[in-house]
Amino acid sequence: MQHPLTARRSARISGRVRVPGDKSISHRALILGALAIGRTRITGLLEAEDVMATARVVDALGASVTRTDDAFEVLGQGVGGLLAPSAPLDFGNSGTSSRLLLGVVAGHDMRAEFTGDASLRRRPMTRVLRPLTTMGLQIEAQGEGGTLPLVVRGTGDLVPIVYDLPVPSAQVKSSILFAGLHAPGRTTVIEPLATRDHTERMLGFFGAELQIEDREEGARAVTVCGDAELQGAAISVPGDPSSAAFIAAAAVICPGSDIVVEGVLMNPTRTGFFETLREMGADIEVLDFRDEGGDSVGDIRVKAGPLQGVRVPPERAPSMIDEYPMLAVVAAFAEGETRMEGLAELKVKESDRLAATASGLEACGVEAHVEGDVLIVRGRGEVAGGGLVEARMDHRIAMAFLILGLSAKAPVTVDDGSMIATSFPEFVPLMTKLGAELA
Ligand code: S3P
Repeated sequence: MQHPLTARRSARISGRVRVPGDKSISHRALILGALAIGRTRITGLLEAEDVMATARVVDALGASVTRTDDAFEVLGQGVGGLLAPSAPLDFGNSGTSSRLLLGVVAGHDMRAEFTGDASLRRRPMTRVLRPLTTMGLQIEAQGEGGTLPLVVRGTGDLVPIVYDLPVPSAQVKSSILFAGLHAPGRTTVIEPLATRDHTERMLGFFGAELQIEDREEGARAVTVCGDAELQGAAISVPGDPSSAAFIAAAAVICPGSDIVVEGVLMNPTRTGFFETLREMGADIEVLDFRDEGGDSVGDIRVKAGPLQGVRVPPERAPSMIDEYPMLAVVAAFAEGETRMEGLAELKVKESDRLAATASGLEACGVEAHVEGDVLIVRGRGEVAGGGLVEARMDHRIAMAFLILGLSAKAPVTVDDGSMIATSFPEFVPLMTKLGAELA
């Protein structure tokens, strides 16, 4: 059922908050917990629909997931020790869960059916199926053009590969590395631009043998040694910078705002959005930059202020790939043109985010257009609003345009806010607590 939400011009956004756990790290903690020997205890796990899909699936594969008062516990079965599921595996809206777990299933002698919602069933899976079938995964049935629903058969006999990623994708990299854990010898993934490195960091933390080599022009080769033995671990999940981005954006565009978001992951493969805000002239600083659990964490302080349009170079895209809808909205409140380059990957997210962002902006009276893989927004320092924006089953489109409504002249309605629960269920109450008029 559709659940429309309306955002109205709000007074200042202010206060201190903590955002829920990082989605990427939450998925990986559950999956690596399932592949480890013994118990993994995860605190700060993101309790959103996408992550719960991963939890249900690893549980269905025989690694039981239980919730205690303050943590989630996964009873790992060891690499290669998972069991064939007795029913189709439903991944809901979650591309990350489905792609990462295809890599895991590939290394087990089992047949499994992968399915998901209408958005996920449109998303390309050939990007993971191509390398995984080279390693030994068999495809028994697939949707049109290599989409879900998929029926696959894994094997206890995978072959290691060296794979050049055709697109910079942490999901594809991770899927291959998870499969590589099950293959004898060394599996190498070469990425054209460094993408989020949570899989590598966490593989090392769980005890896998791993090599990382920086190559020319930002490329990177990651090698994992197979037949790995992982040990259960204690994981504390830091706050999600992709969720913090919505709050920071609201503070930047609502006059008089001053907020602190605490405990946000500051891994450099994830901070492109904050770097870009700073280049636009935003008043943003990281307080108490610290190391927590082998990664960087900080408290982000953001105040409202004038912004200028900027050019965002293509090589920055992997470090802020999920933040472009939000950045495009911020750009509408800046003075001058913002040109965001190298965004082909946005076309295959939960929706075609290039098209969804440009048409949402137009509906709100903002001049925006797409030229190939470039998104151009002409900022005028203020936004009319008043539009009805289609969320297109995409949580980040819904949240970005609700943030726009907080500073536009007229209220903005998003036709369906229900998908927000896939990544940030607390979004509406948390924003409301900070002063946003959102219902
Ligand atoms: C993710 C990687 C990104 C990102 C997604 C989460 C991950 O996708 O958009 O939300 O956890 O690995 P791609 O790897 O396809 O770019």
